[in-house]
Amino acid sequence: MNISIILAAGEGTRMKSKIPKVLHRICGRPMLEYVLRASNKANIEKNCVIVGHLADMVKDEFKDWDIAFRTQPMGEEYPYGTGYAVMQAMDYIEDNSNVVILYGDTPLIRDETIKKLIDYHEENNYDGTVLTAHLEDPTGYGRIIRDQKGHILKIVEHKDATEEELNIKEINSGIYCFKGKDLKDALGKITNDNAQGEYYITDVITILKEEGKRVGAYVIEDSNEIHGVNSRVQLAFCERIMRNRINYRHMENGVTIINPENTYIEPDVIIGKDSIIYPGAIVAGRTIIGEDCIIGENCRIENSKIGKGVKIYSSTITESTVDDGCTIGPYAHLRPNSHLGKNIRIGNFVEVKNSTIGDNSKAGHLAYIGDADVGKNVNIGCGVVFVNYNGRSKSRSLVEDNAFIGSNANLVAPVVVKKWGYVAAGSTITEDVGEGCLSIARAKQVNKDGWVERKGLKERE
Ligand code: UD1
Ligand code: CA
Repeated sequence: MNISIILAAGEGTRMKSKIPKVLHRICGRPMLEYVLRASNKANIEKNCVIVGHLADMVKDEFKDWDIAFRTQPMGEEYPYGTGYAVMQAMDYIEDNSNVVILYGDTPLIRDETIKKLIDYHEENNYDGTVLTAHLEDPTGYGRIIRDQKGHILKIVEHKDATEEELNIKEINSGIYCFKGKDLKDALGKITNDNAQGEYYITDVITILKEEGKRVGAYVIEDSNEIHGVNSRVQLAFCERIMRNRINYRHMENGVTIINPENTYIEPDVIIGKDSIIYPGAIVAGRTIIGEDCIIGENCRIENSKIGKGVKIYSSTITESTVDDGCTIGPYAHLRPNSHLGKNIRIGNFVEVKNSTIGDNSKAGHLAYIGDADVGKNVNIGCGVVFVNYNGRSKSRSLVEDNAFIGSNANLVAPVVVKKWGYVAAGSTITEDVGEGCLSIARAKQVNKDGWVERKGLKERE
């Protein structure tokens, strides 16, 4: 069996944040979630997360996940270090399992890499295997010390390294695979006799080696994967890599992304072939977009389902469903629980909330459609307001098929406009409109001829 221990206890001082580092988001999801996803996809059956600083916030965020937590005591009076963190999971480690050590703040690690590490570890029958990388600038990282034959001897921390060791460009990623029993035995032997006074997990490698165990090193192909996040600058760095990974996946699946550097798609989004995404679009949550759509510049679409051939320009859509062939925007706002049928046109400055609208209906300009059920082939004129709130409670309106609501009308809910009902422009409708009926609810026009002359207004200047 494969199990993981994911370290996420550190304070993350350089983030200067009220929230734990591993809850900071990358492409909309907490960093730690990416590590858990990669671990699960790499056939790791059980994950144990070591929490410490603001532990409860981390536990709460992941309460629906099938993971074990161990809490590392934090504070001046307690020991510290990656080795001490792993020790917290001593009871969790099974003798016969492969134990993979991962980090909540290293979100770019890929499942394929974890798999390859485990395979390499098993194929060579190693007791401990380190994932290493070659870096142009190895500053700060532990260095991999190999003997003349190229076998790994030990890992030396930057702060403990000699001049000569500091020149080594092969570094320790901090990710390892151990045999459970060997890890447990070695953890019992590590000390904090080093420059930082910490218990180093890296010492497990030295101990295994000293005891004549088999230790290997697997060199990663893409060293980007091991970037850790210690600051907001590094957070943005990792975000950019993750953003490109997601965008490249969609492009490879047949989606056009005009400028992937400026398009923000969260990891669970699904987009159909031949859809085109324009710059500045944010597609978030569990949004599904069909084929042949245009997602125009600066759209924000969150947890919504968009059908095929839908065109959306500079608009915001939240928790709503849009069926095939609709055109939305620019500057429209679909708020939660709205459902547009097919071939609907929602134009500029139209807001829709908690409403259904039937096929082929139109609201071209400046309208508020709230708490309404609108039928098919309905025309909602410019400036129409569904008056849904009386200061205390909300009521629904019903507008049946083929109705026509003239410009600047108010429909005061609860109210019904029946099939083929016509509402004259400027009307304030408080009573139901019958089938095929024209309702005019406004003051009758009075024309006073010669009025301006009589009042002497022409001399006003
Ligand atoms: C560690 C490695 C180093 C490697 C580097 C890769 C050790 C001693 N060194 O150094 O060889 O090159 O990672 O990034 O392991 N953590 C806890 N509890 C603790 C201490 C740390 O949960 O008591 C967590 C931190 O939150 C952090 C991670 O472990 O996410 C790494 O700890 P850190 O002290 O930053 O290790 P490095 O100095 O980076
Ligand atoms: Ca450290």
